[in-house]
Amino acid sequence: MSSYAVRVYGDPVLKQVAHDVEHVDGSLVRLVNDMVETMYDSEGVGLAAPQVGVQKRLFVYDVGDGPQVMINPTIAEAEGEWYHDEGCLSIPGLRLGIVRPKQVHISGFDLDGKEIALEADEFLGRVFQHEVDHLDGVLMVERLEDDMRKQALRVLRDRALGLDTTAMEAKLVSADSQREV
Ligand code: NI
Repeated sequence: MSSYAVRVYGDPVLKQVAHDVEHVDGSLVRLVNDMVETMYDSEGVGLAAPQVGVQKRLFVYDVGDGPQVMINPTIAEAEGEWYHDEGCLSIPGLRLGIVRPKQVHISGFDLDGKEIALEADEFLGRVFQHEVDHLDGVLMVERLEDDMRKQALRVLRDRALGLDTTAMEAKLVSADSQREV
């Protein structure tokens, strides 16, 4: 197995819509293994293929039960609202307090072509929504309300200029904190 470099904010691949996986072969299995290794090397809890420059609809995750893969995922139902801090391996070091549906129904396939259907709420539900967004070229910044989004984009611009954004960043998060996805 080998580890990829994770693509970061500003890389155009992160804004593109990924394509469905047509079939599972040896190279897809290798991709999944390498993505899992990359996720662990980066100490993340989730990683989508576009984050390693591959425009395929799949992601890996591990919220404490070992590595899992979800191929061609679809979120069918979403219920409730939940505010929680979110991080992203492609936007290192930035945490954002974001409102998303609390519970989702997700379906997809594993590497054996077996259908997976799961209900997930709170943190796992959040991971699934964040990763499916990556497959649609959507980054977490875009899930903020207008004024918060402007502030977050300003942080990213100022950071790129080498300015200290600590004070501004503090306004973008709530108290608790989780690892990046
Ligand atoms: Ni992410």
